[in-house]
Amino acid sequence: MSIKKNKLRNRFSREASQSFININSSLENDKFLFNEDIEASIAHATMLSSQKIISNKDAKNIISGLKKIKSEIKNKKFIFDDNLEDIHMNIEHRLAELIGQAAERLHTGRSRNDQVVTDLKLWMKKDNRLISKKIKKLKLSLIQVANKNISILFPGLTHLQTAQPISAGHFFMAYYEMFNRDTIRYSDAFKRINENPLGAGALAGTNFPINRNKTTKMLGFKRPTRNSIDTVSDRDFVVDFLSSSSLLAVHLSRLAEEIAFYCSDLVNFFKIGDQLMSSSSIMPQKKNPDGAELIRAKASLIQGNLSSMLSLLKSLPLTYSKDLQEDKVLVTSSSKNIHLCLDCMYELISSIQINKTIAEQKLKFSYANATELADWLVLNLGYSFRKAHNLTAQIVNFAEKKNINLNKISMKDFQKFDKNIDKSVYETLDLKNSINNKKSYGGTAISEIRKMISLARKELKNEKY
Ligand code: ARG
Repeated sequence: MSIKKNKLRNRFSREASQSFININSSLENDKFLFNEDIEASIAHATMLSSQKIISNKDAKNIISGLKKIKSEIKNKKFIFDDNLEDIHMNIEHRLAELIGQAAERLHTGRSRNDQVVTDLKLWMKKDNRLISKKIKKLKLSLIQVANKNISILFPGLTHLQTAQPISAGHFFMAYYEMFNRDTIRYSDAFKRINENPLGAGALAGTNFPINRNKTTKMLGFKRPTRNSIDTVSDRDFVVDFLSSSSLLAVHLSRLAEEIAFYCSDLVNFFKIGDQLMSSSSIMPQKKNPDGAELIRAKASLIQGNLSSMLSLLKSLPLTYSKDLQEDKVLVTSSSKNIHLCLDCMYELISSIQINKTIAEQKLKFSYANATELADWLVLNLGYSFRKAHNLTAQIVNFAEKKNINLNKISMKDFQKFDKNIDKSVYETLDLKNSINNKKSYGGTAISEIRKMISLARKELKNEKY
């Protein structure tokens, strides 16, 4: 039930219908902007008075009224009303109740169209920093886990089949790199969002002698936006956020999938803390990695939001249309889920234990060192790689039939395949050697991983917000 009069309806002969109020109100989805709305209004009122567009006295009253409203909202004393459409009109209405006529001067030289983009950008700038800090924390924990487990021999997979031996440290540093690029994506997005929309007005600018540089400085933006039409129409900064978040969520989801897979009792390479698992209502033995599974699920919601925003924008003519109001629910939904995923993934990684015995045992009973044998034939017997590949495949078949590993094949048997194969082949087949011989830049040799870990540590030290 509406209790307040919407002052924007003076031209209408009929009150808004309930169904219209319901669809038109964005209050539930933009209440969260109250702090930023008040901050921007204080900057606007201060600028208006310093430009002599409103009196100092009115500005003072406006500012103290706004501060009171902020505390009312914080203390849950504020009465919201859907008939007043959104957070902006709710605050403006209350300001008039508190200070009377002066409140009506606040909206001089601005429109809700530039107001809402200003509020949203202010909120999103803060959120961008919070997310980047959380990614940094996660990256630090990945470095720690990589460093701690650097000497564990781990089966590297392609197609989910054992491919080549790697260091477990290399595995975790792969995710470090992905999250590091996410950091860069958020920081690029930050640069683009850092322009002040306030003063664009409804679409065309304003007749009043406003000073956009002043509000830009007061609100901590880098510069004012340069085209009033673009300012109120576009939401590419929202797409930037939703797309950076989608990619971050994809990385989180892939890591979550690895955790769920390697924690499966069929594989048992990883163990995560009991505090991050739940049990079954019927099977008492169960420990399920629900946190990891939910990270995987949230990634789809986050991607859905990106897709919704792109569809929402793609056929919109200039300038503002009410469709744009739906941006906020997408932003808050993705933000909430990204925070949940980052918090949980940080705990998952911090609690992870690698089962060295099982991982190394599995690796030993695989043919992960077959490529080493092919390389050895190329390097020592002058085979072409294709020929070496072919011969190695036959040797693997032989070993598989005998149910032994490649380094358990006797020299006599090796020489049945090629009489020039000699004992040095066993050194090549050694799993540790296989890892440490991969010294190519970015390869899995422990010396390389150590180099990358120290680069990463330096990088993180220089990451400042
Ligand atoms: N609640 C609106 C939104 O979020 C504010 C802008 C309203 N502008 C308008 N011309 N009706 O987009």
